[in-house]
Amino acid sequence: MLAIVVTPGSPGGERLGRVEEPERAGDQLLVRTLALGVCGTDREILDGRYGWAPPGRDWLVLGHESVGRVTEAPSGSGFAPGDLVVGVVRRPDPEPCMCCMQGDFDMCRNGGYRERGIKELDGYGAQLVPLEPEFAVKVDPALGLLGVLTEPTSVVAKAWEQIDRIRYQGCRPAATALITGAGPIGLLAALLGAQRGLDVHVVDRMREGTRPELARMLGASYHSGPIADVCRSAEPDVVLECTGRPEVVVEALRCLAPAAVACLLGISPRGRALNVDVGALNNELVLENHVVFGSVNGNHRHFAAAADALAAADPLCLGRMITRSVPLVDWTQALERRDTDIKTVIEFADEAQELRNREM
Ligand code: BGC
Repeated sequence: MLAIVVTPGSPGGERLGRVEEPERAGDQLLVRTLALGVCGTDREILDGRYGWAPPGRDWLVLGHESVGRVTEAPSGSGFAPGDLVVGVVRRPDPEPCMCCMQGDFDMCRNGGYRERGIKELDGYGAQLVPLEPEFAVKVDPALGLLGVLTEPTSVVAKAWEQIDRIRYQGCRPAATALITGAGPIGLLAALLGAQRGLDVHVVDRMREGTRPELARMLGASYHSGPIADVCRSAEPDVVLECTGRPEVVVEALRCLAPAAVACLLGISPRGRALNVDVGALNNELVLENHVVFGSVNGNHRHFAAAADALAAADPLCLGRMITRSVPLVDWTQALERRDTDIKTVIEFADEAQELRNREM
């Protein structure tokens, strides 16, 4: 069968290769991949800056954002052939830490976790993939290919869960959220914020096009001006920083409303120094009772919450987030960056094409 194969640490070796079809172990599902989303982490792996091959070999099957159709399922697994499913990315470390032991492997303490398509485990970028039922999540059949948005949504579902926990004891409920960046993570964060009934503001550099249109369709206000101006008028008590751009991170942290919670979700380029008055920033954080935290990955609970959030969303809006689909044979085109891109997906099976035609 065909699979997208990379050699972590060695850029340029990626290929659409033939690998052996997986033998389904007794307790596993076999899933036919329909679509695979591409994100910054995949690009980092392809650039040789991230990723680990499984022990004993130097290659890895890429892909951690996927949606697929179950072709085989053991009885009693809770799944049946035909189910539309998404695989959870992370697996607990083999010698589980306290967090992994209780299913909170997204919070792994000792770094011994593994991740499909990223760290020591083959990903979902193959025509057929084995999947453990306890790491599979059913998605609404009506979503079809849009189920590929479940993994990025799980990342923001976890961020919002953390925000809810932190704000739980706040003296007033969160009313206004600021999202920096209108890429897939920013827009999905806006979706979940709007579903929570918050007044959501999205800031991005793009002045026109799909990003502002989508943000508004999701129920958010869209701004392309300075973050400080938006903060002055909106006074957000929740901020989700989704760009990872160092200057945006600092600007967002410098204009929080009192007792705000800021969640950092972006991965930044390294090696770029900024001239920041850390003392002034520290004083603002301390004197205004701010909480700033980082968040990555999501566990099974967050994938389930993501599947629910997507099922409740406007499919038209979700469909517009997928700005480009390329067939598996042309998969490298998915790596090109275009200004109009939000989420690019690689379509694996003929069924993917059929589903897309039906959506259009
Ligand atoms: C994925 C996470 C993963 C992280 C680091 C992100 O792109 O969405 O699931 O934990 O990369 O490997």
